[in-house]
Amino acid sequence: MSAAPTSTLPHHESAARHIDGRAQYIDDLPEVAGTLHAAPILSPLAHGRVRGVDAAAALAAPGVYALVGSADIPGDRLLANFAHDEAMLSAAPHVLRGTLDVGGQEHFYLEGQIAYALPQEDGQWLIHSSTQHPGEVQHWVAHALDIPLHAVRVVCRRMGGGFGGKETQSGHLAVWAALAARKVGRPVKLRLDRDDDFMVTGKRHPFSYDYHVGFDSSGRILGLQVTQLVDCGFSADLSGPVADRAIFHTDNAYFLEHVAIDSYRCKTHKQSHTAFRGFGGPQGMVVTEVILGDIARTLGLDPLDVRLRNLYGTDERNTTHYGMAVEDNILQPLITQLAQDCNYRARRAEIAAWNAAQATLQRGLALTPVKFGISFTATQFNQAGALVHVYTDGSVLVNHGGTEMGQGLHTKVALIVAGVLGITPTRVKVNASDTDKVPNASATAASAGTDLNGRASELAALQVRERLAQFVAELDGCSASAVRFADDQVHSPAQTRSFASLIPLAYAQRVQLWSDGFYRTPKIHYDKATLSGRPFYYFAYGAACTEVAIDTLTGESKVLRVDILHDVGTPLHRAIDMGQIEGGFIQGMGWLTTEELVWDAQGRLRTHAPSTYKIPTIGDTPAHFQISLWHEPNREDNVGGSKAVGEPPLMLALSVLEALRDAVAQARSRAGGSTQALQLNAPATPQRVLEALQ
Ligand code: MTE
Ligand code: MOS
Repeated sequence: MSAAPTSTLPHHESAARHIDGRAQYIDDLPEVAGTLHAAPILSPLAHGRVRGVDAAAALAAPGVYALVGSADIPGDRLLANFAHDEAMLSAAPHVLRGTLDVGGQEHFYLEGQIAYALPQEDGQWLIHSSTQHPGEVQHWVAHALDIPLHAVRVVCRRMGGGFGGKETQSGHLAVWAALAARKVGRPVKLRLDRDDDFMVTGKRHPFSYDYHVGFDSSGRILGLQVTQLVDCGFSADLSGPVADRAIFHTDNAYFLEHVAIDSYRCKTHKQSHTAFRGFGGPQGMVVTEVILGDIARTLGLDPLDVRLRNLYGTDERNTTHYGMAVEDNILQPLITQLAQDCNYRARRAEIAAWNAAQATLQRGLALTPVKFGISFTATQFNQAGALVHVYTDGSVLVNHGGTEMGQGLHTKVALIVAGVLGITPTRVKVNASDTDKVPNASATAASAGTDLNGRASELAALQVRERLAQFVAELDGCSASAVRFADDQVHSPAQTRSFASLIPLAYAQRVQLWSDGFYRTPKIHYDKATLSGRPFYYFAYGAACTEVAIDTLTGESKVLRVDILHDVGTPLHRAIDMGQIEGGFIQGMGWLTTEELVWDAQGRLRTHAPSTYKIPTIGDTPAHFQISLWHEPNREDNVGGSKAVGEPPLMLALSVLEALRDAVAQARSRAGGSTQALQLNAPATPQRVLEALQ
């Protein structure tokens, strides 16, 4: 399959409906008569003991039906969630020690968390949930209600964004709604308002680091010791796997020969932090990028040269700290091409000259790479199922286990199936995710949605095509391999028929016109006991060069220019992939610059609305924002030659933090200060930039 030019590709399957408001979210579903609305009652204390509940006054209020508490849980009262070589530094000619703090991030999906629980006949349940993982919601609800999984059906047509925040945490809402519905015997909808959503749900894990690095005079790292303190909040949720992925990605793009990583998962009195685009990967990489910038400044070298010197090699220096060979390494040519295309060397000199002549403003420049491992690190999740149905009019319906959150998964799956059957993509519809259709589906996460569900759908469609080819071969007396499917037509050496006219013929001869498909990612394995294996099927690569300006009087900053070269293999849908790269970069930029979560001394989150929590807006888009795609298909056998694109671009924004650190360093050296031991934590708010300048 090859990618069609953008102009001939269909838009995102919901693009028009997203814009004119006809795209239905759960809160748009017509409410069943008798529906009640539930809301959580939040504790004013971050950590305390419930001595008792006096609900008399609340229950006496008009319209109040019931208070739902832990006594109303027939099943388990605990949610069915997930919990259950020295660095040789004294050798090294140069040594740096330092610390870094990197804050969390609120998902700020446009559609807040919501669930609608509808009791059905015979003890069965229908749950509409805005979730990346309908199977997990099914599991949690069944567990809480103490009923079998087959009695719970979870449906999700689409989410208004998830970003990892609806991987597990949609389960709480669904359980609460189902418990309330069970108690009152009526349908119950639970929709969090924005402030409650901020207060209740977990965020990206804040990390604190201590590092100790030894390096030679060329800037090459000889030994690295990093301690990572992970703020997990009050329960485990996905903190274990998130902290693990941070360890897997501490190398980012670099060969670390001697490395020791200590990862402490800290229980705190905060919201239970969870998946967020990158899933710990960004937190693993950020400290290493900061260290490389610091090494360059210590030695008076260009940070890009230091980065290039530390890159993974192709034949040697290519084994990760978890023992996986980096076989598909394209870092060196990719970075070199980006540096040339964006004129990195000349601009560095130009910026230094410009800065020297400025009183107040200072510019900074940084080019950083990304290498992101694709696959769930828990090997078992790397499986997917799909159903492809061809109806007698030649229209096609696909059900797969993935969920649509705006990333374009359904559009890509429709394209893949249409490609196999040789028909126009508009003939293919992808239905709502539904646990009744594809059981035991993994979360749509780890960027693997298309790799897994796209392949499963492709395999299902191939089986239907094979049966149709066999049928045509018998009709026309040719071999099945001579039958071709293209342009809405089916060609045999003897005859050409339209796809739509062939289907009723096949139906009349009792050919099965639908199929299932199942895919499991090959080659991957990982041994938790020895911390080694091949957890990732392949890596997605990219690099970004970012130029910023800071105001040394106010600490304000602006991203002026961004050039990106990113690897999506052969794009399945160029416009959607470009959108993922743009959105991922901007979301990463928000994390590292303006999005600041503040908890007070009592553990209360004080930033719980857009008035106090600043995500990037259209005005923050860099005036120059140039994105190019790497030209090569995936070297591993992946659907359509593509690579996963959902998360990796977020980490391109590490170049923003490094550019800000560069600008601060240039300002400090111009003022005669030291550029070493520069302390600029993230998010790099104006206050932090000012502090770093002093
Ligand atoms: N893009 C949009 N528009 N909305 C989202 O919620 N989530 C991101 C990414 N891109 C997200 C998104 C995250 S966290 C992941 S893991 C992937 O999409 C999941 O989808 P995929 O595996 O189909 O790429
Ligand atoms: Mo994405 S953080 O894997 O949902």
